Amino acid sequence: MSAPPRRLDAPHPDTVFDAGWLALRRPADTAARADPLNRLAHDWLCSRVGRPLRLIDLGSGSGANPHYLAPRLPGPQHWQLVDHDPALLELAQGSCGALCDGDGRPVGVDTLLRALHMLAEDDFAGSDLVSASALIDLVDEGWLIRFADACADAGCAVLITLSVDGHWAIDDGEVVDPDDAFVRTAFNAHQQRHKGAGDGAGRTSGPALGARAAPRLATLLEAQGYRVTLADSPWLLHTDDPGQRALAAALLDGWRAAAAEQCPHAAARIEAWHARRQLALARDSTRIEVGHFDLYAEPGVRP
Ligand SMILES: C[S@@+](CC[C@H](N)C(=O)[O-])C[C@H]1O[C@@H](n2cnc3c(N)ncnc32)[C@H](O)[C@@H]1O
Repeated sequence: MSAPPRRLDAPHPDTVFDAGWLALRRPADTAARADPLNRLAHDWLCSRVGRPLRLIDLGSGSGANPHYLAPRLPGPQHWQLVDHDPALLELAQGSCGALCDGDGRPVGVDTLLRALHMLAEDDFAGSDLVSASALIDLVDEGWLIRFADACADAGCAVLITLSVDGHWAIDDGEVVDPDDAFVRTAFNAHQQRHKGAGDGAGRTSGPALGARAAPRLATLLEAQGYRVTLADSPWLLHTDDPGQRALAAALLDGWRAAAAEQCPHAAARIEAWHARRQLALARDSTRIEVGHFDLYAEPGVRP
């Protein structure tokens, strides 16, 4: 999707993720995913078997996507896991080695240490499905356009899950905190900062699309003749579950840090909000909803 790779520059800090965070979010991700989209992907891929299916997972991290998808899709399967973080890729390679496809056959797995902006135009050639989870809200408009073009050229299906939609709510049974909206707006603005290192061809990146990424990708793929399904896949967290409470607490800290970076003049206000919302999480009956989109697209007639 750009010039062939020359070197891997240090990634932008907002695109580096801790393995502990990925493990913490994985159960909520699994529960949130829009299952009907997997079935659409399954049915489309069934028409392509006869040779091993070639599946590419972008921003694979520790391999959550192949773990979830491999047993839900037909086989035989060969996965290529792409990420710019070598430590996460090593984790993914190790943990995906024992995966089986929907028919119980072991899947093939290899890894590619590559930044998204260094992917070449024909890297998807011969692939049947390109997937990503919790990734495309980080990319900019230019990358998304090149991505939609590359998928259409390859004629592959596309399954992009758990992209933030910009909404979250904390319900502790009290009146909504007046500063939830302030922090959410600051956080969403922070998500739309520049996070890239250019496109490998000398062009600099634009601002990340954040919550606009999934609907924008839907539009771009439809323009390429794809049949696109967009579904909600919210995290629904309850503080009476220790794992979900820990995830909610980590979210709260992340929202505070991003909002304070975005609005340094409002640091005291954000700190006071964080303290109030920590009290809400200390109750056993608090609910937190964090909105996401899942997107599935299969090739149709290209205009
Ligand atoms: C939020 S994590 C999601 C990981 C995994 N897909 C999951 O659902 O657990 C985003 C992943 O994308 C990778 N990533 C982010 N920006 C990237 C880029 N520009 N090029 C390659 N990998 C990137 C990160 O290293 C990380 O593994």
